[in-house]
Amino acid sequence: MICLGIESTAHTFGIGIVSFEGKILANEKSAFTTEKGGMIPSDLSKHHESVKDVVLAKALKSANLSMKDINLISFSAAPGMAPPMMVGLRFAKELAKKYNLFLVGVNHSISHLSIGDLITGAKDPVYLYVSGPNTQVVAFAGGRFRVFGETLDLGLGNMLDKFAREIGLGFPGGPKVEQLAHGKYVELPYGVKGMDVSFAGMLTKALRLFKQGVSKEDLCFSLQETSFAMLAEVAERAMAHVDKKELLLIGGVAANKRLCQMLEIMCKERNAGFFAVPLEFSGDQGAMIAWQGVLQKNDVVNPEKADIRPYERIDEVEVTWA
Ligand code: ATP
Ligand code: FE2
Repeated sequence: MICLGIESTAHTFGIGIVSFEGKILANEKSAFTTEKGGMIPSDLSKHHESVKDVVLAKALKSANLSMKDINLISFSAAPGMAPPMMVGLRFAKELAKKYNLFLVGVNHSISHLSIGDLITGAKDPVYLYVSGPNTQVVAFAGGRFRVFGETLDLGLGNMLDKFAREIGLGFPGGPKVEQLAHGKYVELPYGVKGMDVSFAGMLTKALRLFKQGVSKEDLCFSLQETSFAMLAEVAERAMAHVDKKELLLIGGVAANKRLCQMLEIMCKERNAGFFAVPLEFSGDQGAMIAWQGVLQKNDVVNPEKADIRPYERIDEVEVTWA
């Protein structure tokens, strides 16, 4: 049995094809880009409309399958921007009707976590999700995925991007900051508030120090050490609180070697396992939607009944598959 998953919540239109056993057969995508920055919902819809057939054809070709081999279609139903999500929904309905298939609408955020489990083999981890806009500590507890801590202002990736842009390093900033992070430590605000984190204060301070002549290397090093220590602290407290023996790092910032190293040391000291999701499966893509569809194969609906839920939070989802 095979599920085809459609991702369209934001900049990426992706199609993944995954077997019910968890074998990834295809993962094709096309991401909207713009020079001006900023994502206008109607531009995303136009982009997704224009690439959807090509992305589908590529996915089927790389899986060496035809639509007749597909048994189930899943799509990202939440959370995200309605206009691009509607493109995915309409495409899913069209295909489901044409090939007489059921549909399942899944939560995009939970799909990021589930594909992480599949790819790394983690069983029941605390998830640390760190991308451009997101910084969250999540775990499955009491029958739901719950957010134990999150950023109160910027996501860590966006903070690094802003810092890099302001000091002339270009975009995306995370990798540039990592390359330069070999100076000495200068003190920056340590923004842990309860289980939440805040990065705005350290960004402001780092930019002020830059204007005062502190070197890029010292600032990149100090931003990394401070922000990563904050994440290690809240992740560790979440692991202790919910009594979990694994930590799974997801999101674009998972590419950072120093972050992985710090989290790995923390996990070793607790006798816990540490997993980082490789880049192909940590950004937005269709394979995660397809795999979540497999997990939720009992939640299918007829194509007419399928809809999107733009504001659904991760902790609102009833977990039927765990
Ligand atoms: P989302 O899928 O949550 O909408 P996104 O579109 O920002 O997130 P991702 O690819 O998950 O996409 O994350 C991109 C972020 O990761 C950028 O902010 C980038 O600077 C950051 N990043 C990438 N590589 C590194 C690195 N080596 N070190 C630190 N940050 C990094
Ligand atoms: Fe995402």
